[in-house]
Amino acid sequence: MIGSPVRIENVNKFFGKFQVLKNINLEIKKGEFFSLLGPSGCGKTTLLRLIAGFEPPSSGGIFLSDNNVTNLPPNERPVNTVFQNYALFPHLSVFENVAFPLRLEKTKNQEVVENVKYYLNLVKLNDHAQKFPSQLSGGQKQRVAIARALINQPNVLLLDEPLSALDAKLRQQLLVELDTIHDEVGITFIYVTHDQQEALGVSDRIAIMNDGHVLQVGTSREIYEKPVNSFVANFIGETNLLTGTIILQTASHVCAQVEDIGEISLPLTPTLSSGKILKLSLRPESIKVSKTPPLKSENIHIIEGTIDEIIYGGFQSKLFIKTSNNFVIKSLHSHIGECNADNYLKWKDKVYAWWNIQDVYLAEVS
Ligand SMILES: Nc1ncnc2c1ncn2[C@@H]1O[C@H](COP(=O)(O)OP(=O)(O)OP(=O)(O)O)[C@@H](O)[C@H]1O
Ligand SMILES: [Mg+2]
Repeated sequence: MIGSPVRIENVNKFFGKFQVLKNINLEIKKGEFFSLLGPSGCGKTTLLRLIAGFEPPSSGGIFLSDNNVTNLPPNERPVNTVFQNYALFPHLSVFENVAFPLRLEKTKNQEVVENVKYYLNLVKLNDHAQKFPSQLSGGQKQRVAIARALINQPNVLLLDEPLSALDAKLRQQLLVELDTIHDEVGITFIYVTHDQQEALGVSDRIAIMNDGHVLQVGTSREIYEKPVNSFVANFIGETNLLTGTIILQTASHVCAQVEDIGEISLPLTPTLSSGKILKLSLRPESIKVSKTPPLKSENIHIIEGTIDEIIYGGFQSKLFIKTSNNFVIKSLHSHIGECNADNYLKWKDKVYAWWNIQDVYLAEVS
């Protein structure tokens, strides 16, 4: 039985004295859309280059379908790469660019024609087959690169920020198309990006990287709802990161003194000792805001403040609410159901901000 298409075991990579990858272990499943997500310089491209064989690891092993390929050159690995900058042959037509890997393998012309047609159709470029790269838009060029990378049916397709040169709308559109292509061809995709929206939107699983480490591997939902530490909580989506100290425990709750906010109660089984420092994540969409006070309940925490800034975003706005001790908390406020302009929240309004204590997530303990 063939094992996982990509396994990375205890991989370290140094450039001189500088360690770029730190003990990476990953196992990617067959047919997965797997993303590597992390800030600029964290080592994503380096890891992809190691999988492709453009760079050797300093130590550790790379396995493709259980074969140790650590010492194999790129052309002997069943892997193709799509780069950010397309890397098309300018003197070849779209058709011949896509046909190129099959021409190299001396495939019969009729088979080449059938395959190129299929892959040009997949990337919606059948009407552009005779054009040259200089006559294509950025999105079309990247489609050619994707078709060319798929035509010799690699086991794994590596994509290094393939959409980052395109404008936001086109990026969205191509991302959806990429997802459809992935479903159609069933190949394992490893997709590198520093854009969390892209990764959350289409990935089966995501590895979050920072400073050469893989911090967390999980589905979009797991990573968004259960970040393993405050870096992940802050990097994925937006959040309010609060720092608190445990002061009291009951059978089902922990009471913490939170900087700038005061005492808050958390529904935690108290296995933590007093004095521990907590990093708490509170997503802006969990915070409700109104000009009138909400009904008090032991399950909600209420603070008072003033709207310091509003960023209008169509169906919702982001509100920055400042308390009397200058603490600022972000809230995502939906406009759905707001039928009367008198009710609109405005800059400088005095407001109540509140959240359900269940929505406070413990991101880190130290
Ligand atoms: N050939 C090299 N020689 C020396 N240092 C390198 C080399 N390639 C990459 N680095 C360094 O390794 C680190 C990781 O680089 P890498 O390109 O993998 O980051 P990245 O996560 O892909 O970033 P970005 O999102 O900006 O593309 C960076 O600090 C980079 O300067
Ligand atoms: Mg990179």
